[in-house]
Amino acid sequence: MTENIVWHHHNVTHENRCKQKSQKPCVLWFTGLSGSGKSTVANAVESLLLENGNHSYLLDGDNIRHGLNKDLSFSEDDRVENIRRIGEVTKLFTDAGLIVLSAFISPFKADRQQVRELHGVGEFVEVFVDTPLEVCEQRDPKGLYKKARAGDIKNFTGLDSPYEAPEAPEIHLKTDQQSVDKLAQQVLQHLRDNGFIS
Ligand code: PPS
Repeated sequence: MTENIVWHHHNVTHENRCKQKSQKPCVLWFTGLSGSGKSTVANAVESLLLENGNHSYLLDGDNIRHGLNKDLSFSEDDRVENIRRIGEVTKLFTDAGLIVLSAFISPFKADRQQVRELHGVGEFVEVFVDTPLEVCEQRDPKGLYKKARAGDIKNFTGLDSPYEAPEAPEIHLKTDQQSVDKLAQQVLQHLRDNGFIS
């Protein structure tokens, strides 16, 4: 597919952009079950980044599936393609010098690993939003678990579609034990400790 297509090198480099923004770009890759709190925590983190003077961008599953990925379903193949495309987008945004937050269920280990490998060493920060299925189902903010249990949604993650939890995430968040504020602070502290922000 890339035959007769030649890569262009640009005058303004990744290093130029990072220096201009005084931050080290990365992707905070939030993964977890539906209703686990990915978007809620990512939102809170992004607000703290703004207060801290950082330049960020949040990519969210529901929103991206309204546009860029609106042709994709929740079949296994389409979920793989969903994450592949988002990985490419996060690669572009980190190249632009941004701190990228992505909030997708991203249920398969192999897909998350592929995105990790697409990024430079240390640039992919996996954030496991670890909320037990029972808690997600009890919260059921969009009423989707109820629909899935009634058989109105097929291939629902955690019920009749698998979720492969991370084994060694850089950040492990337990949303049933800590407040959103505390969890967001935990993420910011990780970014400070690892020199992404000051
Ligand atoms: S994935 O698995 O990474 O491709 O999913 P993602 O793009 O993050 O989209 C998840 C949101 O889609 C809604 N939804 C479903 N989730 C899981 N399984 C099925 N079958 C499904 N159908 C619709 C749901 O609102 C998810 O949002 P979150 O924010 O995760 O609850």
